[in-house]
Amino acid sequence: MEKFLIKGPCKIKGQVNISGSKNAALPILAATLLFDTPVIIKNLPRVKDIDTMLNLLSSLGSKIQLSKNKKIVRISKTSKKRVFASYSLVKTMRAGILVLGPLLAKFKKAQCSMPGGCNLGLRPIDIHLNALTQLGIKYKIIKGYVHASAKKGIIGKKIKFSKISVGATENSIIAACLGKGKTILKNCAIEPEIKDLTNFLNSAGSKIKWIGKRTIQIEGVKSLNSIKYSVMGDRIETGTFCVAACLSEGNLIVKNFNPKLINTELNLLKKVGAKIKTFKNEIHIKGPKKIKNLNNIITKEYPNFPTDLQAQFMVLLCKAHGRSTITENIFENRFMHVAELRRLGAKILIKENKAVIEGSTNFQGAELMSSDLRASVALVLAAIISNGQSIINRIYHLDRGYEKIEKKLKKLGVDIKRVS
Ligand code: UD1
Repeated sequence: MEKFLIKGPCKIKGQVNISGSKNAALPILAATLLFDTPVIIKNLPRVKDIDTMLNLLSSLGSKIQLSKNKKIVRISKTSKKRVFASYSLVKTMRAGILVLGPLLAKFKKAQCSMPGGCNLGLRPIDIHLNALTQLGIKYKIIKGYVHASAKKGIIGKKIKFSKISVGATENSIIAACLGKGKTILKNCAIEPEIKDLTNFLNSAGSKIKWIGKRTIQIEGVKSLNSIKYSVMGDRIETGTFCVAACLSEGNLIVKNFNPKLINTELNLLKKVGAKIKTFKNEIHIKGPKKIKNLNNIITKEYPNFPTDLQAQFMVLLCKAHGRSTITENIFENRFMHVAELRRLGAKILIKENKAVIEGSTNFQGAELMSSDLRASVALVLAAIISNGQSIINRIYHLDRGYEKIEKKLKKLGVDIKRVS
């Protein structure tokens, strides 16, 4: 199994190009199931989750043609039509459930493995299933699979999500695109990746309109047109590199990302002392000598602070002067990195969903274990500023969502090696 060897402390200096967004690309790829004509998706991140989604689409009968650098894919229909999303593919990537809506909209039938829980907690799919049921589907759960059908197709309806869910909003939007009549979705997630999905679908001829802050109106269309679409940049990768610069008294230029989309995060980094200049698609960030503490960061749906940057900010606050707190409101089990950070010397107390972080940690390198995607990158950040060598095991978690992270970090001055 591959691991990272990191020798710290290092300073982050230079320029980094942000890759395409994993969380925007996944629903867009799932939505290609709606098309009869070829679609070209550009700016794909080269990460494992994208491979898994492409394998899933291929297993459902799509023809996948990747460019040499694997950042552009042409997806077209074959004569095979399959509606079975297997456990082996969905278990490794929960976003596999995003094929349920498009399969039902296009083929009126789907058998999709339930994703099951994960390291972050239970992660049920009840909101997806509830919304799709209101849009006219029927389903049974048999032996771990959702067996669903939509005999009359997807039928437009007014729906209010009981809770804001990124995935359920995406599944419902994609399904309603080819539905009969008008669908109104209320209490939607409004993450930038969802706006990227609606931009993609509208460029292909869908009739999706944001008619309120969290309300979408969708007029069903009969079919979608062949298009080329470039996926937005990765918000979480951008935030992670900005934290790395801030943490290491670094000096970094982050390219290919619209800073307006991470206003909340950049304001927090300014509060801890970072000097930040923003341009159209670029961020210049200088880390402070003395990092200030922050009181009560709370993870919440966009435009609030994202749960996917919670672990990275926790590392930053370990280095701050004074005590900080972070409350995790999205996932019930998202403090897996804490035990590993403690092994490097962090002083963090967990009380239910709140972490109390004592600052001024002098991290000392150690052997560590990755547990999930964002927890793993937090360990990498901590190792970068630790004294001595750290070994990070199970980095396959990182490969699910960060493109060439060690190459990018090495270019910025980090002493990092991938070994088997
Ligand atoms: C997406 C992101 C993930 C991010 C998360 C929250 C992708 C591929 N993944 O995940 O990186 O951390 O948003 O920003 O885009 N819930 C239910 N029932 C449901 C669905 C969700 O109870 O049917 C709960 C979840 O357990 C969680 C909360 O709602 O507590 C939010 O989950 P959701 O927004 O759906 O996250 P994902 O779409 O799975």
